Amino acid sequence: YEVAWDAEAADKGGWSSFMAKEITEQPDAVGNTIRGRVVDGAVEIPELTELGDDRLREIDRIIIIACGTASYAGMIGAYAIEQWARIPVEVQLSHEFRYRDPILTDGTLLISVSQSGETMDTLMAVKYAIERGVTTVSVCNTQSATIPRESDAAVYTHAGPEVAVASTKAFVAQITALYLIGLHLGRVRGTLAADAQASAVAALDALPAQVAEAVDTHEQIAQLAHWMADTRSVLFLGRHVGYPTALEGALKLKEIAYIHAEGFAAGELKHGPIALIDHGQPVFVLVPSPRTAPVMHSKVVSNIQEIRARGARVIAIVEKGDTSVLPYADDVIRIPLTDTLFEPLLQVIPLQWFALELSTAKGLDVDQPRNLAKSVTVE
Ligand code: AGP
Repeated sequence: YEVAWDAEAADKGGWSSFMAKEITEQPDAVGNTIRGRVVDGAVEIPELTELGDDRLREIDRIIIIACGTASYAGMIGAYAIEQWARIPVEVQLSHEFRYRDPILTDGTLLISVSQSGETMDTLMAVKYAIERGVTTVSVCNTQSATIPRESDAAVYTHAGPEVAVASTKAFVAQITALYLIGLHLGRVRGTLAADAQASAVAALDALPAQVAEAVDTHEQIAQLAHWMADTRSVLFLGRHVGYPTALEGALKLKEIAYIHAEGFAAGELKHGPIALIDHGQPVFVLVPSPRTAPVMHSKVVSNIQEIRARGARVIAIVEKGDTSVLPYADDVIRIPLTDTLFEPLLQVIPLQWFALELSTAKGLDVDQPRNLAKSVTVE
């Protein structure tokens, strides 16, 4: 009896791909990013404290720049920063930023988000901002990479090295870091109410265990993917933070399963995309919690009814206990209960598994998809 084993398989921790291993590492990616940054029930990021509270109070606008998955983390982070710190946030793709002659003032804070810290488009945007005197903060997963070194402050994500081209654990760690930044800014600026701070910190505390529960959707998703192996197009719908989550679900599927996929804001359906729906079209719908977002929830349930009536195959991701979609959904995937802002950190995990399983079913290289590099170091 001989055990087949090699160094590469060992690195993968027994998983068939780095991506699979990295999906399962997400509870730690989130937990390690939070660790040491919550003190006595309040978020305190030493690297931001070093910038000086006065400087943080003077910020009147934040621009988040990033590419790909990191830009979706940025879009999600923008909702939280605006809610907690009451600063207007816009998200721009790094490679578009310089060419629009951006309006940069003394009150502008630029936050870059990059797993590698070497993405050339993002680095050039950071340099452009630095040359114009803008304060820059880097959210990065790679210690001492170029972008955090160039920036005024670095708020590292502690996801550990990410090998698979498709970003998974870095994404959830980026969202976590941006939320911590939002909570830090809200505290310093006095915009974060005590109850909002307490409930956000409680949500952060619960997060690693809840992410682990979401990782456990693997088997259900593997079965779903098995039945959908011939799928040629998949749509993803979400509202509010569910919208960038939908974009991320679509990107994962494109990059590793080479399947046409699009994410939409659910409210946009009737402005065009609903024409795409015909018999059997798979649509993943990210359903907000009926407890914490009842109005958005009922609107998304209406969207589900509309697409179902036109023949869509609906795969609904709902919080546990939400039975409202059962009459209209073909498949229901359940995630733990959390606040609306924290839902992407759980909802994205079945979408990651889905892309991985479809890629595997098609016999593709999950970790190294064609035409892509882990870090894009050219403009
Ligand atoms: C994610 O799955 C992609 N491979 C890609 O979009 C990536 O997130 C993007 O290139 C940004 O990379 P970075 O975080 O290293 O800057």
